[in-house]
Amino acid sequence: MTEASPDLELGFSVGPHLVAGGLALAPMAGNTNLAYRRLCRKFGADLTTTEMVSSVALGFDDQKSLALLERGAEEYPVAAQVFGADPEALAQAAAKVETLGFHIVDLNVGCPVPKITGGGGGSALLKEPELAARCVAAMVAATSTPVTVKIRAGWDDENKNAPEFAKRMEEAGAQAVTVHGRTREQRYSGVADLNLIAEVAKAVHIPVIGNGDVECIESAKRMLETGVSGIAIGRGALGRPWLFQQIRAWLNGEAVPNDPGPATRASLLLELGCGVTELYGEFRGMRIMRRLTADFLKGLPGAAKLRARCNRLQCFADLEGLAAAYSSGESEGV
Ligand SMILES: Cc1cc2nc3c(=O)[nH]c(=O)nc-3n(C[C@H](O)[C@H](O)[C@H](O)COP(=O)(O)O)c2cc1C
Repeated sequence: MTEASPDLELGFSVGPHLVAGGLALAPMAGNTNLAYRRLCRKFGADLTTTEMVSSVALGFDDQKSLALLERGAEEYPVAAQVFGADPEALAQAAAKVETLGFHIVDLNVGCPVPKITGGGGGSALLKEPELAARCVAAMVAATSTPVTVKIRAGWDDENKNAPEFAKRMEEAGAQAVTVHGRTREQRYSGVADLNLIAEVAKAVHIPVIGNGDVECIESAKRMLETGVSGIAIGRGALGRPWLFQQIRAWLNGEAVPNDPGPATRASLLLELGCGVTELYGEFRGMRIMRRLTADFLKGLPGAAKLRARCNRLQCFADLEGLAAAYSSGESEGV
């Protein structure tokens, strides 16, 4: 049964950039490359963000980092996400992002990975609100591109400081904040704290984008009820870019389309494979596609057999073969 459409509405602006429908694709390293973002846009994602990029590496024009900042001319608005903890390096990175034509530069204050937090970046900045504020202020001073911040609930259960932290980011010049309702200690376990996201939405005057565990209409509804201006969807959209279209239909009070069948999924998979190959070449592209393809198969009957094939993808022809098997329902027979 289709849920009644909500009274609450989504939509916000980041500086001059209107994110009319309020649905964002959350940044995900290894996943939200330009090709995947294009697929999500096609299904109605209103705001997309690159994978995170090191501000220090950008400073010396590291080619791998620049490759992560490929931007589609039609992507609007699109944010580039940077991480780091040095105000000077972040300021330079923000200026670089502006020259690359991005509409928003987002500071990562959520990544839990020790490689990032060890250098003081990502979620480690949650413990250093004044340093984080200096980072944001330096970025704001270095560019006319609006600066946003993506945070977590806090470092751990004893230190859930997201409301105060978001306020400090607002004072430093951030024009929106995305909150993943988990602590750094939780990483991806447990559930996102929606009450805390609601507190953040009350604490600041800038748009708050709620994030964590939105994977269906029901969970989108719960997030919407926190009073946020936008919703960022991460894992729920992996292998399921059509989730944006389904949530949009529900928001508009229209019938929610069913998940596409195998033939449509197979053709979307090939479209993604083409895009990833164009971006990274066939060798690297197929390695990236191993994981992305597995996401497309998740939850389907007999997907295990095809998943083993995902891990062996070497060339585009392998992907075509897999898509054909998928489309013809070969996976069902396992
Ligand atoms: C594989 C993966 C990579 C991620 N990479 C990033 C990243 O580069 N930058 C970032 O801010 N968050 C990153 N995240 C966190 C997501 O943006 C999001 O905050 C988190 O997954 C919770 O949202 P969800 O429940 O909708 O997935 C990543 C998450 C996953 C699963």
